Amino acid sequence: MTRILLLGGTTEASQLARALAEAGAEAIFSYAGRTAAPVAQPLPTRVGGFGGAAGLEAFLRDEGITHVVDATHPFAAGMSRNAAEACDGANVPLCALERAPWQAGPGDDWAHVPDIASAVAALPEASARVFLAIGKQTLDAFAAKPQHHYLLRLVDAPQAPLPLSDTAVEIARGPFTLDGDLALLQRHAIDLIVAKNAGGTGARAKLDAARALGLRVILIDRPEVRARQVFATMAEVMDWLPHPARLGV
Ligand SMILES: NC(=O)c1ccc[n+]([C@@H]2O[C@H](COP(=O)([O-])OP(=O)(O)OC[C@H]3O[C@@H](n4cnc5c(N)ncnc54)[C@H](OP(=O)(O)O)[C@@H]3O)[C@@H](O)[C@H]2O)c1
Repeated sequence: MTRILLLGGTTEASQLARALAEAGAEAIFSYAGRTAAPVAQPLPTRVGGFGGAAGLEAFLRDEGITHVVDATHPFAAGMSRNAAEACDGANVPLCALERAPWQAGPGDDWAHVPDIASAVAALPEASARVFLAIGKQTLDAFAAKPQHHYLLRLVDAPQAPLPLSDTAVEIARGPFTLDGDLALLQRHAIDLIVAKNAGGTGARAKLDAARALGLRVILIDRPEVRARQVFATMAEVMDWLPHPARLGV
């Protein structure tokens, strides 16, 4: 019997969950548990880490998983690394559903940097109003540049004091729109954006808004993930899985 583990946390993972549910597939959806109220899925859902690659390998065996689809965020490299190692160990086929990185077009002013530390270094010395669109996990690195005002957009209100002193916090969950992000950047008089090159449509609006307003973007490149079978579309993943008519049978 085909039994799929879908590692989620992205819009694309939620779309794939819907397709699998409609196909009647036997599948488990997995969330890291980064948000207080994750989007409900039409599949049985578990939340939280597996306990590293070894924990995931044990999970695959215990649950009789036959296929793993890694549809995590492109910056969730630890999870992707563990998935590859666990699938090797348990001899379970793995594929990734990965959206293409964003590419600059005419009118974009993007500075590409390899990681968070380089993004901090790329900020100007003179005080600026920065939209720090990187989630909440790596904010502390920006404490090295306390001269800036930082706008943060978070899914949940912070439960602990933030590591940055001069901040404004907007609570919102994507997908975001161009009009909404234009208004956000203007309301906060933003000079500069720091973002991760996540790709996809849900978080793209801030880049289009930056172009419209002539703002510079410091764009953090994706972390390296080891070679694996990668698909760019949900249809390709569905084709890779055993035929839908046999899913769950
Ligand atoms: N994870 C997401 O849903 C998500 C969503 C939006 C953006 N991001 C971006 O990715 C960056 C890194 O995120 P991250 O810390 O979650 O990734 P990570 O560094 O790859 O994952 C750290 C650990 O979280 C657990 N984990 C991650 N995804 C999981 C899933 N789908 N199901 C079960 N456990 C999962 C695993 O714990 P164990 O080792 O215990 O198994 C994993 O080793 C963030 O800063 C953000 O930019 C992530």
